Amino acid sequence: MSVEYGDDLHPETLTIGFGYDPRSAFGAAKPPIFLTSTFVYESAQHAKDVHQAFFDGTPAPGGSPYIYSRLTHPNLDMVERRLAALDKGDDAAVFSSGMAAISAIMLCFSRPGETIVHTRPTYGGTDAMLYDFMPQFGVTPFAVEDALSEASIQAAANQALERGPIALIMLESPANPTGTVVDIAAAARVADAVGERTGRRPLVMVDNTFLGPFVQTPLSLGADLCMTSLTKYCGGHSDLLAGGVSGRKALTDVLKKQRTFFGSHLDPYSCWLLLRSFETLHLRTERAGSNAAKVAAFLRDHPKIETVNYLGFAPEGSTVQAVMARQCRGFGSTFAFIIKGGEREAFALLDRLKVLRLAVSLGGAETLICHPATTTHYNVPIERRLEVGVTDGALRVSVGIEHPDDLIADLTQALAAV
Ligand SMILES: Cc1ncc(COP(=O)(O)O)c(C=O)c1O
Repeated sequence: MSVEYGDDLHPETLTIGFGYDPRSAFGAAKPPIFLTSTFVYESAQHAKDVHQAFFDGTPAPGGSPYIYSRLTHPNLDMVERRLAALDKGDDAAVFSSGMAAISAIMLCFSRPGETIVHTRPTYGGTDAMLYDFMPQFGVTPFAVEDALSEASIQAAANQALERGPIALIMLESPANPTGTVVDIAAAARVADAVGERTGRRPLVMVDNTFLGPFVQTPLSLGADLCMTSLTKYCGGHSDLLAGGVSGRKALTDVLKKQRTFFGSHLDPYSCWLLLRSFETLHLRTERAGSNAAKVAAFLRDHPKIETVNYLGFAPEGSTVQAVMARQCRGFGSTFAFIIKGGEREAFALLDRLKVLRLAVSLGGAETLICHPATTTHYNVPIERRLEVGVTDGALRVSVGIEHPDDLIADLTQALAAV
């Protein structure tokens, strides 16, 4: 009997055991944690052969393929195989945080004089990399005005090309914190057009953090790289930080090799926690999604709430609804809403909540709520923040898997006091 899964099974099955072969660990039903920094070679020749295999890509010799845990280690390999299978990539590179993954992508795939086209808004850390850090290395960012319009993405690309070759088209969909949707397939077509015109096709990267692999698989929509902060839904319990990038092996190999020198691999224990979290990802995604629909409906009908940006409320027949229907299998469970008034009313609501926890981050089992303008997007210049709808009354909620009635009761009592 075979004890290792193939990757041709349903994702719900892959999350349980794919990437781990019990024969590699005395038949242990669950993977051990390989808490070691280094691995003993079988001989001096074996040491030379495993280094050659790692650095030159020659076939792995017999015996242990591992050298030193910063290069890779067994738990990292397991997590990478499982994530790649869920994202439908050839392989994945897993990092110590989502930002470690995003910065590795920018640093590995762009060069001085080149440009990065990106959608807006984007996570505060990504924004800081694009506007504060990469320009120091001669890489210039160009923002897309309307990421639902292919013409608008093309216009940003044309503007970028006047400055220099486009290294990357970076998309975040839905975007943090507004839930703004990007037409991923349209961006991939723009990359193709740029490739035909200039002889160099930019890489298309999608930040899939807000939905995760059970709701959106960007690689199937023409993206080259799918980046996910595994800290969020995949980790799912707000107890670890990690980031993953799935895609073609030629690309993930570049990231893995450079990760060795950045020193930003994920440690064995966090990898093991992630393997465990993957097993319930589809159940948590489903439950949080259905809770979010109920919480969003409650907020939409509340007189103290101005707007609710829940994706399930996209108007019938709108472009955003059509794009969502093409590229997503649900609406996720993190969304922004705007309270009438501004910062004072937003703070009053936050300070009265008892069940919903006031914290940044998202995708955990518990419901988290925050005020993006003064937390996640604190560092984004005010004009850029307001342009993309992160106003003083905006709140972001990541709905968890509690009983929805308790969440609605908590919001009811807190809103009554605003
Ligand atoms: C959309 C998005 N991308 C990337 C990140 C960065 O991930 P990490 O916190 O794991 O570095 C975050 C964090 O909140 C995020 O919301």
